[in-house]
Amino acid sequence: MQKFSYLFVIFIAFSFTVNAQNQFVGVKTCGMCHKKADTGNQLKIWEESAHANAFKTLQTEAADKIAGGKAAEDPKCLKCHVSGHGVDASLLSSKFIIEDGVQCETCHGAGSAYKSKKNYGGSCKIS
Ligand code: HEC
Ligand code: HEC
Ligand code: HEC
Repeated sequence: MQKFSYLFVIFIAFSFTVNAQNQFVGVKTCGMCHKKADTGNQLKIWEESAHANAFKTLQTEAADKIAGGKAAEDPKCLKCHVSGHGVDASLLSSKFIIEDGVQCETCHGAGSAYKSKKNYGGSCKIS
């Protein structure tokens, strides 16, 4: 039983370490590969969606009125209107731009590990 608990603690610590390394890389990084018509051009779908403008929405008079102050700086608004709000600054890569609004990684998770070409093995279609 004691041995089991010991392994369990190591497992939890290990999972935590792995998760802690995943950084937000930003929509431009995802878009480098996900802009081809034959695989769905997810970048274009996103660019044409309201999510791409979710931060700009906060930079309007209407938004400031709702917030009763600067909406674009208000954590109450940012928590839904951008990706990566409230996460530790060390988890935002230098390429990540918060003004890009609700980005891929809000839904798909921080992508520093899975963005890499090597993770797609032989099936990688990117040349
Ligand atoms: C180096 C190129 C590359 C980058 C950068 C990249 N991807 Fe991908 N991604 C691929 C390839 C290749 C596939 C598998 C083939 C396909 O479905 O287009 C894939 C598949 C996916 C899938 C589908 C997985 C499944 O199980 O069907 C999702 C979701 C995805 N990527 C999201 C992202 C997001 C979000 C980012 C940015 C954080 C990102 N990708 C960055 C190349 C890339
Ligand atoms: C719980 C998530 C959430 C929070 C918190 C939030 N918003 Fe939003 N907001 C949304 C969503 C989702 C939409 C898009 C709704 C739609 O298009 O139907 C939106 C849309 C808007 C719009 C555009 C409305 C329109 O008709 O075009 C404004 C302006 C706005 N929000 C301002 C704010 C302000 C200011 C705050 C902070 C005081 C805030 N939001 C907080 C989720 C949120
Ligand atoms: C609002 C949440 C959301 C955002 C933002 C988002 N996705 Fe997705 N994405 C999804 C969901 C949900 C699916 C699964 C759709 C399905 O199975 O029909 C998906 C599917 C995918 C797939 C699998 C292939 C496909 O087209 O179904 C890829 C690749 C992908 N997304 C990449 C991206 C990239 C790149 C971005 C940013 C440019 C992005 N997504 C932004 C929610 C999102």
